[in-house]
Amino acid sequence: MGSKIVGLGMHAPHKKRSNYDLEKIVDTTDGWIVERTGIKNRRVSEPGAANSDMALVASQKALADAGVRAEELDIILVGTASPDMVLPSTACFLQAKLGASNAWAMDVVAACSGFLYSLSVADSQIRAGRAKKALVVGSEILSALLDYTDRSTCILFGDGAGAAVVAECDNNEGLLACHLQSDGNLWDLIHIPGPGTINPLTPDLISNRMMYLRMAGNETFKHAVTKMCDVCHKVVAEAGYSFDDLALFVPHQANERIISAIGKRLGITGDRVFINLDQYGNTSAASIPLALAEAKIQGRFRSGDLVLLVAFGSGLTWGAALLRM
Ligand code: COA
Repeated sequence: MGSKIVGLGMHAPHKKRSNYDLEKIVDTTDGWIVERTGIKNRRVSEPGAANSDMALVASQKALADAGVRAEELDIILVGTASPDMVLPSTACFLQAKLGASNAWAMDVVAACSGFLYSLSVADSQIRAGRAKKALVVGSEILSALLDYTDRSTCILFGDGAGAAVVAECDNNEGLLACHLQSDGNLWDLIHIPGPGTINPLTPDLISNRMMYLRMAGNETFKHAVTKMCDVCHKVVAEAGYSFDDLALFVPHQANERIISAIGKRLGITGDRVFINLDQYGNTSAASIPLALAEAKIQGRFRSGDLVLLVAFGSGLTWGAALLRM
């Protein structure tokens, strides 16, 4: 027995923030951002918006796409670094809003790899016979965690949600191979210092802007390319395929230069690479399901096609999954 994505949905706030809007906030230009990242727009939520409300819309679309009722769900997993509250989990808020009364729910904190980590947990539970149907979500309101005085980070990220309904299937369908990895030694490359037990909520924490995301972009870039390439090789080889067999490559949407460097190294280029970061920026855990759901809407893969997903983010965490759709 295996597990398969049987429904996909996505949602993003209506409000767009363009590079030109950012020119008015920090010392940057549309030209710099497009050349260095490929990003043109990102979506932003209203202050105080609930992450779970955005996740709810994406989840309802995924359930409708799958023809599955919320009560049929056994598990709800939400990959997020921007939860509604510290406690309880955003997954529990989502469960209540969906009326998924027969599920257990938890958040998975793996930054931009959160969706793939969650997908792997759902797959393991289904293979173990402990669940039949799972809802796997990546949802982020990163605009609430950005320092709008730091031009090197605030231009990169955006808000959005993507959801997948995962159900049991035969062994040669669905998730064919998955490999996850992390390296906690490199935690400081991307982090939010507080509030937490090391840096509790104090006036100093606020005045030092320690509640916002910090990233060593250049160093992160190098790790992103090598680590994502490595893990893509692992899953494709493990499943007994080559990169030529792929119908579509859906990488984490962080930076167009990272994606094209990986694509060149793996020999996957042109239409076989899905990119929507120009319109959404980096939506962290939401990036892959949001891209996969858009790819489905655009008819970029068909039933039976091989699709490769790869993620990379804070932790450091990274991973890849090969799917037969
Ligand atoms: N507008 C204009 N100039 C900017 C800028 C902005 N928004 N942000 C940074 N700069 C400047 C820097 O201050 C620096 O100026 P200096 O040379 O005078 O010191 C210069 O641009 C180059 O900065 P650098 O950080 O070396 O740029 P870069 O080419 O590495 O691009 C990133 C920066 C963040 C776009 C890139 O490093 C990146 O995408 N990193 C990976 C992010 C990622 O993968 N995250 C994944 C996990 S979430």
